[in-house]
Amino acid sequence: MRVQMSLLVFCVVGSIVCSQCVAEQPETVKLDTGGLSRESFPKGFVFGTAASAYQVEGMASGDGRGPSIWDVFVKKPGIVANNGTGDVTVDQYHRYKEDVDLMVKLNMDTYRFSISWTRIFPDGTGKVNWKGVAYYNRLINYLLEKGITPYANLNHYDFPYTLEKKYTGWLSYQSVKDFTEFADFCFKTYGDRVKNWMTFNEPRVVAALGYDTGFFAPGRCSKPYGNCSEGNSGTEPYMVTHHLILAHASAVQRYREKYQQKQKGRIGILLDFVWYEPLTRAKADQYAAQRAVDFHIGWFMHPLVYGEYPKTMQEIVGNRLPKFTKEEVKMVKGSTDFVGINQYTTYYIYDPHQSKPKVLSYQLDWNAGFTYAKNGKSIGPRAYSPWLYNVPWGLYKALMYVKERYGNPTVILSENGMDDPGNVTLAQGLHDTTRINYYKSYITQMKKAIDNGANVVGYFAWSLLDNFEWRLGYTSRFGIVYVDYSTLKRYPKMSAYWFKQMLTRKKN
Ligand SMILES: *[C@@H]1O[C@H](CO)[C@@H](O)[C@H](O)[C@H]1NC(C)=O
Ligand SMILES: *[C@@H]1O[C@H](CO)[C@@H](O)[C@H](O)[C@H]1NC(C)=O
Ligand SMILES: *[C@@H]1O[C@H](CO)[C@@H](O)[C@H](O)[C@H]1NC(C)=O
Repeated sequence: MRVQMSLLVFCVVGSIVCSQCVAEQPETVKLDTGGLSRESFPKGFVFGTAASAYQVEGMASGDGRGPSIWDVFVKKPGIVANNGTGDVTVDQYHRYKEDVDLMVKLNMDTYRFSISWTRIFPDGTGKVNWKGVAYYNRLINYLLEKGITPYANLNHYDFPYTLEKKYTGWLSYQSVKDFTEFADFCFKTYGDRVKNWMTFNEPRVVAALGYDTGFFAPGRCSKPYGNCSEGNSGTEPYMVTHHLILAHASAVQRYREKYQQKQKGRIGILLDFVWYEPLTRAKADQYAAQRAVDFHIGWFMHPLVYGEYPKTMQEIVGNRLPKFTKEEVKMVKGSTDFVGINQYTTYYIYDPHQSKPKVLSYQLDWNAGFTYAKNGKSIGPRAYSPWLYNVPWGLYKALMYVKERYGNPTVILSENGMDDPGNVTLAQGLHDTTRINYYKSYITQMKKAIDNGANVVGYFAWSLLDNFEWRLGYTSRFGIVYVDYSTLKRYPKMSAYWFKQMLTRKKN
């Protein structure tokens, strides 16, 4: 009932072309796809949605799952808006069939999910939790039964808490070894059906937010840069990243040696991208923007493609930047079959002319000033999240940059989307014309990059459902499907139907 009311509203006031306002169901309202369709993209190009275990599964301490650093972090008072946790979230653990059915209904090809390490190994290593193993078998089998291709990511921020306590997590080289064994178990168990693997989601965010500002788990930083009881913002982000890169490369090596030929799959990594545009043409601003690109994109792309950190980073960070041994260079260089790019936004960068800080930090090493406006004009409309500006041309620039600087690797646009505030009503939430405009513009820019030679082979919207958004808890809604958190009922938003129409398959 409320759904139909809201439909009436968007037929009357919506800015979207509406040719069938008598329609009772949103399915039949014709939406403007901006000329985009499956035919706009190369053969074999896939569309899907992405999510992560802790954000959607729930059942956080059920069926034998052990705690990750996020389970512990979110329980600290004042950490998550309104004390939100992932204990239940949207309960995909029990409702995966309904969610997969939704993907089918929306004409999606793929689903990118993550495997919770501590659902498989509650303590990170050792004893296997077979109930957890069975859950991913059910999910994968149901996806395949319904014709949705599974894309499985091995780690999305959720490092095992037991190992964090035992050896301070990613700060210890032991994490490389333990992650490799967890990855091996997943390849062995699911690799007969999963052909698209990813090692990490946004390892840069783990290092920067977990160890430079302490804003994310495990919440470590130097005193001036966040509310942390321990940490070192000038060294730990670099050590953690070094181990994350080695853990990625080591898992890929294992996959290639033991599984890849037989299972005929591919493996990559998911990197968070932001495009940094010089605020002015002044040389100093251009150098600052290049430093920002190198410290953000290059920190991971450079080792993966060239076997070393970018020269700018080597010069600025000096002996705080770990070095790869000769053996490690061999393992790291070329250690990815594709690069997943998660991109939402773009910022202007200028030279802040800052003097050397007393207490060092990864962020201050950039020596770059951020701004969201130029001559008083915003870089783009802001979403609910304060960091998220709608700047579609930045996606084009980032994709072309990767093509030019990193030898045109196979790229999957593995996350893209925008959020509304959590307290929008159902009717407001469903009428998400701003989100449709966001997707239409970004996908158009992605197409432009492909038409200009960028090797992009897939696109994943973040996310299918509204879900647990880390520090923002449930106060941010990224879904193309609205979730009523009191009933956990799912309601496709207008943007979901936009995707459905854009992805209609031509019958031959
Ligand atoms: C969050 O929890 C704290 C104490 O644990 C409580 O004082 C506060 O009222 C809670 N906030 C909300 C929004 O529930
Ligand atoms: C800093 O962290 C402590 C301990 O977790 C907490 O009690 C305090 O409220 C936090 N302060 C701020 C400003 O967030
Ligand atoms: C949502 O909350 C914000 C501030 O917390 C408030 O300004 C806004 O009016 C609220 N919106 C609705 C629809 O309740």
